[in-house]
Amino acid sequence: MAKRNCRAWVIAMGFLLTAFTFSGAGLPAAAEDKTYVGSESCQECHEDQYDSYSAHSKKAHSYESVKVMRKGLTEAEYLECLQCHATGFGKPGGFTSEDQTPHMQNLGCESCHGPGSDHVDSGDPDDIVGELSPADCERCHNSERVENFKFKPLLFGGAH
Ligand code: HEC
Ligand code: HEC
Ligand code: HEC
Ligand code: HEC
Repeated sequence: MAKRNCRAWVIAMGFLLTAFTFSGAGLPAAAEDKTYVGSESCQECHEDQYDSYSAHSKKAHSYESVKVMRKGLTEAEYLECLQCHATGFGKPGGFTSEDQTPHMQNLGCESCHGPGSDHVDSGDPDDIVGELSPADCERCHNSERVENFKFKPLLFGGAH
């Protein structure tokens, strides 16, 4: 009897481990399932935002800022830059290296709106982060780095 319970437990754990493996690191499914797909995937449905962003936003060239300084940086410093200057670094579908993920090296739509895989498939606005607050900007535009940065007007005027 005890042996059978034990086997059932092992099987249950097996299922759990499999589930965790497929969902990433075992975080809540809703947040974990989404992956970064890159701004090109947004272009066909949001041409206006895509065009104006590509043409005018410094974010669309943010990796250049790191590249010009890279020679003087240690590997650790370089990796730190990527947290704010590349899209989804260290996250599923996000930037890994210039060779492997050149389409993620600059900051794209998903650096503000979050991973877009589900939304790209569904076109459902509920699948993407639409409303942003100054806290979402301060993640990168922190006080240490940027003094007197005026987020509030920019939140609605400077994104794209
Ligand atoms: C298959 C078409 C399609 C693709 C691809 C697509 N979207 Fe959308 N998106 C929509 C539709 C439809 C809406 C709802 C109407 C609108 O706001 O334009 C929407 C709305 C949004 C909104 C507003 C959400 C809200 O809460 O109001 C954001 C932000 C957004 N999309 C970002 C993105 C990003 C980022 C990508 C690329 C990763 C993307 N979209 C790709 C169709 C698409
Ligand atoms: C993932 C990090 C990150 C987030 C989140 C972020 N930014 Fe930025 N932003 C940057 C970086 C990096 C630059 C500088 C790019 C460069 O020149 O290399 C930048 C540049 C800018 C600029 C300079 C001018 C321009 O046209 O690009 C503005 C304005 C700006 N961000 C506004 C915002 C606002 C508003 C938010 C929140 C809605 C926001 N940012 C969120 C990283 C971020
Ligand atoms: C915590 C987030 C963060 C980190 C980490 C970070 N940056 Fe930035 N960086 C920003 C933001 C935000 C801006 C935009 C400042 C502004 O326009 O007000 C910026 C701007 C720049 C600019 C100026 C671009 C321009 O057009 O004026 C350069 C160059 C730059 N960063 C290089 C680097 C390098 C190199 C590293 C790594 C050593 C790095 N950054 C790390 C957030 C970050
Ligand atoms: C710097 C952060 C940031 C980036 C990068 C960004 N957005 Fe947005 N986006 C916002 C903010 C903030 C709003 C809300 C604006 C408002 O409520 O008026 C928004 C709103 C939207 C909306 C809703 C409709 C609208 O225009 O207000 C869509 C669709 C959208 N973004 C798509 C995109 C796409 C596509 C890209 C990439 C080409 C992108 N965004 C890049 C911050 C950003």
